[in-house]
Amino acid sequence: MVAAVRNPQAATRELKSLSKGPSSDLIIVKIDSLAPSDASSAAKELQDTYGITHIDLVIANSGIGDVYAPAYQTKIEDVQEHFAVNTLGPLRLFQGMRSLLSKSTRTPKFVILSTAIASLELTTTFPLQTAAYGASKTAVNFICRRIHAEEDWLVTFPVSPGYVVILILSDLEIEACFLTLCLHLDGFKQTWVTPQPPFQVWIKHQ
Ligand SMILES: NC(=O)c1ccc[n+]([C@@H]2O[C@H](COP(=O)([O-])OP(=O)(O)OC[C@H]3O[C@@H](n4cnc5c(N)ncnc54)[C@H](OP(=O)(O)O)[C@@H]3O)[C@@H](O)[C@H]2O)c1
Repeated sequence: MVAAVRNPQAATRELKSLSKGPSSDLIIVKIDSLAPSDASSAAKELQDTYGITHIDLVIANSGIGDVYAPAYQTKIEDVQEHFAVNTLGPLRLFQGMRSLLSKSTRTPKFVILSTAIASLELTTTFPLQTAAYGASKTAVNFICRRIHAEEDWLVTFPVSPGYVVILILSDLEIEACFLTLCLHLDGFKQTWVTPQPPFQVWIKHQ
């Protein structure tokens, strides 16, 4: 099992103590989505230092989503940053790991964390103002579909993980947005997962 983090020296105890199979090891490598050559350097390190010959599954999980504003007020540099991490990051990860994936004999898979907010169909009904985040995830969905079309040996798909309350989404303004979302979309509330106490407070007020 390989975990890619921005700063391996600061990797948390929780990460290091993840349960693993008796014959498995955790290898931690550095990949900053903003660094153009980190993914390919990590692939080289896996082969040269750890003797890894193939990878069966790559999950492109890292992402940012911290700008909520109408499009006319969204700064271009914020859009560029979201594209850099959420769109180009997974593409760089795919390009860096493609060779190792191609050597898997167990139906290799490349999975990208996306979101329902990236849906073009839902764009006008979602109350969240997310031009930067939404566009970057819509773009990565497209890249995902291109990889699917171009690489017939590889299973490639985006995953919308549902909704997990994380720290950046816990302020009142954004909670209000999600409350509106719950009112607009049937079944939305049932998809919430919460690892944090603030959400439990919030749900009581529904
Ligand atoms: N939470 C939700 O409800 C939700 C819903 C739909 C989709 N998603 C998607 O699911 C994925 C995980 O989200 P999450 O909720 O777990 O978010 P999170 O808690 O904020 O975690 C995001 C992770 O991305 C990493 N990251 C950010 N910028 C990076 C960069 N430049 N290079 C490398 N890593 C970087 C962060 O690393 P550090 O630890 O170093 O900060 C962090 O570990 C994201 O792609 C997100 O868009 C989440």
